[in-house]
Amino acid sequence: MGGHDEKDKWIVRSTEGIGDTFENVMSRRLSRRDVLKSAAIASSVAIIGSAAMDPEAAAAQRTSTPRFATVSPTAPDFDDVSVPEGYYARTLIRWGEPLTASAPTHNVWEQTPAAQAQQFGYNCDFLGFLPLPYGSGVSNRGLLVVNHEYTNEELMFSRYDPKNPTRNQVDVAIAAHGMSVVEIVRAPDGTWSYVKSSPYNRRVTGETPHRISGPAAGHPWMMTSEDPTGTTVRGTLNNCAGGKTPWGTVVSGEENFHQYFGNLSKFNQSDPRYAVHRRYGMPAETSERQWERYHSRFDVAQEPNEGFRHGWMVEIDPYDPNAVPVKRTALGRFRHEGAHFGVAPNGKVVGYMGDDAVFEYVYKFVTAGTYNPRDRMANMNLLDEGTLYVARFNDDGSGEWLPLVYGQGPLTRENGFGSQGDVVINARRAADLLGATKMDRPEDVEPNPVTKKIYVALTNNTQRGGEGRAPTDAANPRAGNSAGHIIEITETNNDYAATTFRWEIFILAGLPSDPSTFFAGYDKSKVSPIGAPDNVMFDAAGNLWIATDGAARAIKYNDGLFAVPVQGAERGNLQQFFSTVAGSEVCGPEFTPDERTLFLAIQHPGEGGTFEEPISTWPDRVGLPRPSVITIQAFDSRRIGS
Ligand code: FEO
Ligand code: CA
Ligand code: CA
Repeated sequence: MGGHDEKDKWIVRSTEGIGDTFENVMSRRLSRRDVLKSAAIASSVAIIGSAAMDPEAAAAQRTSTPRFATVSPTAPDFDDVSVPEGYYARTLIRWGEPLTASAPTHNVWEQTPAAQAQQFGYNCDFLGFLPLPYGSGVSNRGLLVVNHEYTNEELMFSRYDPKNPTRNQVDVAIAAHGMSVVEIVRAPDGTWSYVKSSPYNRRVTGETPHRISGPAAGHPWMMTSEDPTGTTVRGTLNNCAGGKTPWGTVVSGEENFHQYFGNLSKFNQSDPRYAVHRRYGMPAETSERQWERYHSRFDVAQEPNEGFRHGWMVEIDPYDPNAVPVKRTALGRFRHEGAHFGVAPNGKVVGYMGDDAVFEYVYKFVTAGTYNPRDRMANMNLLDEGTLYVARFNDDGSGEWLPLVYGQGPLTRENGFGSQGDVVINARRAADLLGATKMDRPEDVEPNPVTKKIYVALTNNTQRGGEGRAPTDAANPRAGNSAGHIIEITETNNDYAATTFRWEIFILAGLPSDPSTFFAGYDKSKVSPIGAPDNVMFDAAGNLWIATDGAARAIKYNDGLFAVPVQGAERGNLQQFFSTVAGSEVCGPEFTPDERTLFLAIQHPGEGGTFEEPISTWPDRVGLPRPSVITIQAFDSRRIGS
């Protein structure tokens, strides 16, 4: 595709010369990488030369490349999953399945909020497997923590009229949001099932009481008529991705929370809260689902502060079914994709996060306290105190973490910040003032526990370089970026708590035949096409696994799951492991500790169709498509990809 003229469009701005060609910038990135690579080789030689190195351990570290028969991409109307030869997929749990003994069997014709609040929610996204009992590390019994990001009313209800949703439809949808915790077990024959009456099973919904902690707790903007203290809130919404903390809790990202709040245009425009709600994208008129019709808390004109109580990271302890989930405001308020944690050499816990909107930012949070591996409960409030940073990616491959701290730099009264509560509530504006780099929709940002490098999935931004929009820069090098890219960050001294870093482009996604794509320098004739990277994870050897959301739009194939080595000669050799069904995205990739089971969330199967005219019947082949969690295993139960 495209000749020389096409290539000339990939102009990037760089301190090394405005108007550089894309190829020039890439070759500079490559030479930087080669320098790092030779440094890494030098240090590994030093290690091998030392007496402490076990030669067998060194050999084990080298068997890192995932091995499986690459899956072919499928057309967007293809309505089945594909796995590599020698593997099989099974449905573990589907929307509507009862989680408790008293929960009714799902009946699409007679849905009620009370039933849905005891049944598996809609649109599963994040998946976390936490072994049972806590700390056991077992791979045959655990708690699966699942986010339910949003609802597709047109697929859930017969003859749904988006202009006139009924009270029952609204309340069922609120109950279908949130999270599920469900105990799952693997039988000796390898078959996974969920334990219907496990005491651990619970639903968190758009109605469940949450506690608010951290610098925004009790802030005047957090107070509502229902909660004059500003410390408790009903519900969590649009829970997208998340992460597991080192102490066995889960944090869940409240992502596109703005969409649930209507009537901003009826609110007083001279009130300072108006500008903040606008910056966060609240709809001017009626919201898409019209919950404000029946619940005044979703009407900005009536309850202007309720929106400030969403857009946070929520921490939940799945091992305690009575634990009240907590909105940890120290981690900032934005459209949280998720958070992924690492422990720095000094014991501080670092969470990496993305604000998933066009031209928004990459953040990290560094705790003030240190992780205590011997006392689980000592860690339970670690996420309440620490420093929130936002990333600046310089064109020369350097970068800085800029602190969002009240009183420092521009974050003062002159600019409208009177407390740290103000800073976290309006984190986007604080990041603007600090000069953070506007990115192409940051999704998962995750540290590789093997190499300590951080991977940033930037899903797409077709507005990049458009009229009146931010131009390309070295970290977001493609105008009209429809297929997204992945950046690799190396923290100074490989320390997660560092305030400076180096970065380079790891992958520019798309069809390999597209000259603007890049796979870490690997031979593009040998890799799979990939579009719109979203969730990432690492296997025990440090290979990167990437789930996508939006490939059908970007490259005209269904979404999938891909594996790519990040080190050695195979670095950049990206291969497709899984392909999903019509209308869906792939989320939550998660392994059991033994890596013999892979869990995937198949979100919004059949999106684009309706209840009456479905484009998918997955997974049951009768009736509606149902968002579901699946397991993938090898017939010979080998480790996935070995
Ligand atoms: Fe809900 Fe950023 O994906
Ligand atoms: Ca996502
Ligand atoms: Ca997504």
